Amino acid sequence: MTVLEARDVIKEFREGSGRVSVLRGASLSLDRGEIVALEGPSGSGKTTFLTILGCMLTPCSGRLSLEGREVDPKRPDLLPALRRTSIGFVFQQFHLFPALTAAENVEYALNLKGIRGPAARREAARLLGEVGLPDRAAFLPRDLSGGQKQRVAIARALAGRAPVLLADEPTANLDSETGAQVLDLFRDLARRERRALLIVTHDPRVRSIADRVVRIRDGSVCN
Ligand SMILES: Nc1ncnc2c1ncn2[C@@H]1O[C@H](COP(=O)(O)OP(=O)(O)OP(=O)(O)O)[C@@H](O)[C@H]1O
Ligand SMILES: [Mg+2]
Repeated sequence: MTVLEARDVIKEFREGSGRVSVLRGASLSLDRGEIVALEGPSGSGKTTFLTILGCMLTPCSGRLSLEGREVDPKRPDLLPALRRTSIGFVFQQFHLFPALTAAENVEYALNLKGIRGPAARREAARLLGEVGLPDRAAFLPRDLSGGQKQRVAIARALAGRAPVLLADEPTANLDSETGAQVLDLFRDLARRERRALLIVTHDPRVRSIADRVVRIRDGSVCN
């Protein structure tokens, strides 16, 4: 079952007095439980595409559907709600709130999804258990290792049971052993919970957990 589908996505950016064309008809579909690796040279538009798929940026044209519903390009005001219900995002730089503990970072994401109070605290503890950090809940990000920070970020992305997880070079700041552990965790989560996972990467190890590898070339996605 397809959870996310993008068709003929075009994205240009203004550059000085001209325009630079980054995506020139990029299409991709993701099924439930599927892991897809998205590769491509630096500057080829991987982050741009992921950001559009994650409803954080609107394309110039093209169609996007999430869980069978078309995303209306004329209603950018609806994107935050779609993000909250359907998308979990994991970044290369973790992007945790430095003043919040691991548990509070996850709780904050749950709050945004309407889960509050004791229910959010219980769910944050459960999610930190899922990612193997039950004993680090009260730690601030600065007291966590890179791999632990990324696990907290993954727990946060899992909040609210988003069916689509998008990860932008999630192992790029991790040493090889920690990166391998994070990939094992992603694989288990995708399989166990049937979440769709799209990983932008330069890391050849991601291929080993992916069902499919696609590449961005000349603004389109090739299989
Ligand atoms: N907001 C923006 N304004 C203008 N140009 C942009 C903007 N965002 C991205 N670009 C340009 O779009 C192109 C693609 O950028 P993008 O970040 O998607 O590449 P990438 O494939 O993720 O690269 P990397 O592997 O280095 O992360 C680049 O040339 C970049 O300069
Ligand atoms: Mg990028």
